[in-house]
Amino acid sequence: MENSKLQELFNELSIEEKIGQLFQATGAVYEEEAVISGPVKELGINERDIYLAGSVLGTMGAKKTKQIQKKYMEKHPHHIPLLFMLDIINGYKTVYQIPLGQGAAFEPELARKCASMAAREAAADGLHVTFSPMADLVRDARWGRVMEATGEDVYLNSVYARAMVEGYQGEDLSDKETLAACVKHFAGYGAAEAGRDYNTVELSERTLRDFYLPAYESGIQAGAELVMTSFNTIDGIPATINKKLMRDVLRKEMGFDGVLISDFGAIGETIIHGVSEDRADAARRALEAGVDIDMMSGVYPQTLCQLLDEKKIELERIEECAWRVLKLKNKLGLFENPYKGVDEGVAEEQILCQEHKELAETMATKSFVLLENKNNILPLSKGKKVLFAGPYVNRQEMLGAWSFTGDISDTITIQQAAEKKMKNYEVCFCQGCPILPKEMKLDGFVNYKEEEFTEKEIEKMLTEAESKAEQADVVVLALGEHFLQSGEATSRAMIEIPENQMKLLERIEKINPNIVVVLFNGRPLDIRKIKQRAKAILEVWMPGTMGGNAIVDMLVGNNAPSGKLPMSFPYCVGQIPVHYDELNTGRVHVPGRDKDRYVSKYLDIENKPLYAFGYGLTYTDFHISEPVLNKNTMRKGEKIVASVKVKNCGERSGAETIQLYIHDVAASVARPKKQLKGFQKIELQPQEEQEVSFAISEEMLRFTREDGVFASEEGEFEVFIGNSSEEERKTKFVLKDA
Ligand code: GLC
Repeated sequence: MENSKLQELFNELSIEEKIGQLFQATGAVYEEEAVISGPVKELGINERDIYLAGSVLGTMGAKKTKQIQKKYMEKHPHHIPLLFMLDIINGYKTVYQIPLGQGAAFEPELARKCASMAAREAAADGLHVTFSPMADLVRDARWGRVMEATGEDVYLNSVYARAMVEGYQGEDLSDKETLAACVKHFAGYGAAEAGRDYNTVELSERTLRDFYLPAYESGIQAGAELVMTSFNTIDGIPATINKKLMRDVLRKEMGFDGVLISDFGAIGETIIHGVSEDRADAARRALEAGVDIDMMSGVYPQTLCQLLDEKKIELERIEECAWRVLKLKNKLGLFENPYKGVDEGVAEEQILCQEHKELAETMATKSFVLLENKNNILPLSKGKKVLFAGPYVNRQEMLGAWSFTGDISDTITIQQAAEKKMKNYEVCFCQGCPILPKEMKLDGFVNYKEEEFTEKEIEKMLTEAESKAEQADVVVLALGEHFLQSGEATSRAMIEIPENQMKLLERIEKINPNIVVVLFNGRPLDIRKIKQRAKAILEVWMPGTMGGNAIVDMLVGNNAPSGKLPMSFPYCVGQIPVHYDELNTGRVHVPGRDKDRYVSKYLDIENKPLYAFGYGLTYTDFHISEPVLNKNTMRKGEKIVASVKVKNCGERSGAETIQLYIHDVAASVARPKKQLKGFQKIELQPQEEQEVSFAISEEMLRFTREDGVFASEEGEFEVFIGNSSEEERKTKFVLKDA
């Protein structure tokens, strides 16, 4: 509808109705049989609040959303449609690779296509908004939510945030097959101290601005319609009520004029943080900070009228929030068609269609990272006797922690894929061990149970695996975290694979050293013991509905690995946080000179991570030449072209991700040893050679200077071009202002 018409409608709303737009309830309360009970009743929410609320969290299904929308609009005094919002993080029904794995593909375009696919399926099933992309920069593998991020790098996260927003929102939000995107969690949530979820965040303003904010800003510049606040404090103030962060940085500096929604209950939690005195104070502070929607703390519907009466808040603040919510509904076209894209027939057609399954399989294939491949044991030679053992051999739960919208029963397992695809091999299968040791309970995941086994049954599994391993040429061990060991509220202080799985690996290794580990995980793990025992390690993250197909095709060489790590794998948990773009310090440890005592290093472990950011092997070998520049001086407004020659020196075709890193040698503040500024993924046939060039611009060299201005500074810059952040060959140029 025209803005003028929307304004007319807005002016007719009562204050109570405007306040209603600022509250989000869970969908359950709208269901036919729903009674106001449980968390909603505890929030002091009544029937009227429910029927004035502006949006719903957690309901899906074409039939159900239509039913709720119809009933809700009949009851609403001005028949304003509801917004339906949900966490669609890595797919709706066709579940694809988790975001950390998507980052490993170094193919943001693929992530865009996947997001677009998720929007098609979810919009047909009645959804309007997804709480994605999560643009939090992550450096701490103890934090379970790293699985929802695309890694430790500012530039990589920024290009992915943009791609996902574009994928969800398409060209026109009123189009039936789109979802409004919500960039989260603003801001700095991934920096929770000690990797403990919801914990305090302690960042200098410069670190926040130069490392943590850019990816959120990239999603906002891509047009994200919503931003979600984060649970943590920034500078000691809960982000959700942090006026400087939300009004000055998000709204003014970044120019965000969309809907700011709190995280679940986050407004109310500012009382527990020890800042808001009570629920009314929390509501006042959140409103002052410009939070438009209160997700399930209930303080807005419960206290805003009273705060108005007491003149503790201005009506203008409420109206600006309500207006933004109505604008979003209007952009989605909900006033013309409250049912937007809801269509059971389309949902039936789109959901898990062949095209979608193929895209999910491609996303998985491109995301896998080959970490080890001793004696080129992979790809598996035809005719081999291959034992598949381990809890993930015939397990469908490989969709990740945020895939409750998907049906596990749709997943293709490794065994199912191998039985179909490995006719030229002698294959056999066994579980080998349960996914978790008996004593490890996933507390809080009340509706999730793993099959229990007796000690005798477990020992029988192990001995069956041993006897089969004796007959095999190669043993593929499918091991890893339980999918609920990463995601929200899953911080871990020890980050190895479950010990009962390690026992299986150790027992198999004594019998057959030709071990290939396929690793399932939502975070970097401490895999030193696996590295010592396995000939090959293929990192597959949580690959989604088509995971089994993608894995087997890679093991037999139908596809070659091309992923690169988006996040460092620490040598051990004691090394965390470890990230490639660290500062030099004044006492650099020079690899190999371990006798130097007074340098920044450990006495008991190596300084570098077990596997570095940007690292990943392929089934062939690439030679990359030294970097060459077209000139060595850059003046403002000019660009420098940096090039390398890349040759596929092997017998198989393959893809390599050529990465451009830049180091600002001397600046008014210490700058990272190197920072990713570009990457190109290229496919080369055997013996084929290609030149890869990058245009280096002055904008790439900007940072928050000592004076707080975001700009570049004259001086010397080093340029690295290679296939991982460990590249040390470099060349130099000088930036001159004049
Ligand atoms: C959760 C998460 C957030 C999610 C929201 C709604 O607590 O922090 O990422 O979008 O609640 O489910």
